[in-house]
Amino acid sequence: ETVVLAYSGGLDTSCILLWLLEQGYNVIAYMANIGQEEDFEVARKKALKIGASKVVIDDVRKKFVNDFIWPAVSAGLIYESRYLLGTSLARPCISQGLVHVARQEKAQFISHGATGKGNDQVRFELSCYALWPQVKVLAPWRIESFIKRFQGRQDLIEYAAHHGIPVPVTKKEPWSMDANLMHISYESGVLEDPAKPAPDEIFQMTLHPQHALETPCKLQINFEHGIPLSIQNLTEGGPVETDPLQMFTVLNQLGGQHGVGRIDIVENRFIGLKSRGVYETPGGTILHTAHTDLETFCLDREVLRMKTFLRDKMADYVYNGFWFSPECEFVRECIALSQHYVTGWVQVELYKGSVRAVARNSQVALYNQTLVSMDMHGEFQPEDATGFINTHAIRLREFQRFKTQLEDS
Ligand code: ARG
Ligand code: SIN
Repeated sequence: ETVVLAYSGGLDTSCILLWLLEQGYNVIAYMANIGQEEDFEVARKKALKIGASKVVIDDVRKKFVNDFIWPAVSAGLIYESRYLLGTSLARPCISQGLVHVARQEKAQFISHGATGKGNDQVRFELSCYALWPQVKVLAPWRIESFIKRFQGRQDLIEYAAHHGIPVPVTKKEPWSMDANLMHISYESGVLEDPAKPAPDEIFQMTLHPQHALETPCKLQINFEHGIPLSIQNLTEGGPVETDPLQMFTVLNQLGGQHGVGRIDIVENRFIGLKSRGVYETPGGTILHTAHTDLETFCLDREVLRMKTFLRDKMADYVYNGFWFSPECEFVRECIALSQHYVTGWVQVELYKGSVRAVARNSQVALYNQTLVSMDMHGEFQPEDATGFINTHAIRLREFQRFKTQLEDS
């Protein structure tokens, strides 16, 4: 029987690979290139040496940007007001690849190395079941014989060494990492105590704001229907980037040099646990700021309120692993509809860890300078505001009268 394993090249999934072989499975290692820094050829050799019958290296970077990051940007997805969902968005994208390969190879099983306490197990498995209802999932970190055998990291190292799996010579950083084009997340190990700040050396995509470039950088970002269309560095001049992958890569570089997009939070996992996470999301943070600005500029107020409600629903769906679900599909389409008039440009300035919008323009914005101006009278009669205020005051006056009466009696 064949199992397609989501393989990272690291210690855990290498041990899982071997363990699956010991259980009698034929194992195909699947590696998604989702923008993480990785020597895929080294990982390929490693998987083959351990005994994988085949290694599939799948470049999903374009798909990740177009089908997952762009919808997230236009929706303004943000979990618990802070987390831009870098890992949550990657899981359904990787799952698509896993399912595709499994079907192609006529494998019945899919396996992954996510633990039994986290979100990722839920995301991988719900995505796989949604895409392929008949698939069977093997989650070793929830299988008794596996957990008994591997109680801790030391057991994995010994097992690997004993079977000739190359074990990282340098002592692994005492935290766990998940990297992709959109972000790097850091959790567990020394980060488990939320009272202790994260060591500065963990960060790989961004400079500390203190060491960021001394001069600000101004960027222009063009959106069409809520989706980034092009970017241009106004400070350096430089070309107008229009290729989605290239745009995102440039934004990551610039954001990184200016120390943009670091957060350190305690979040609520779907399972019900609270966990401490440290994230760096340079490009995503820039886009989120720019898009939010343009959207508020363009959209009708009530549509914006409704969209914000849908955004928060969708963020929960995505975080909880329901990317491929009827509710998420529905909300995604509603949000796309709301973005019809979110077309125009925003200029943002990056400086010492911050990103802020400094100008925006749109041919379809509801903004009307004549109407709002303090210097001109436009169509709106200021006297009309008197009745507007008096009407709203009815309720407030009545409430005050009522309180005074109660106190007097
Ligand atoms: N807490 C974040 C999330 O649930 C990041 C998870 C990181 N995953 C990992 N395998 N290290 O989306
Ligand atoms: C894991 O538990 O495998 C990583 C963290 C998470 O999925 O939330």
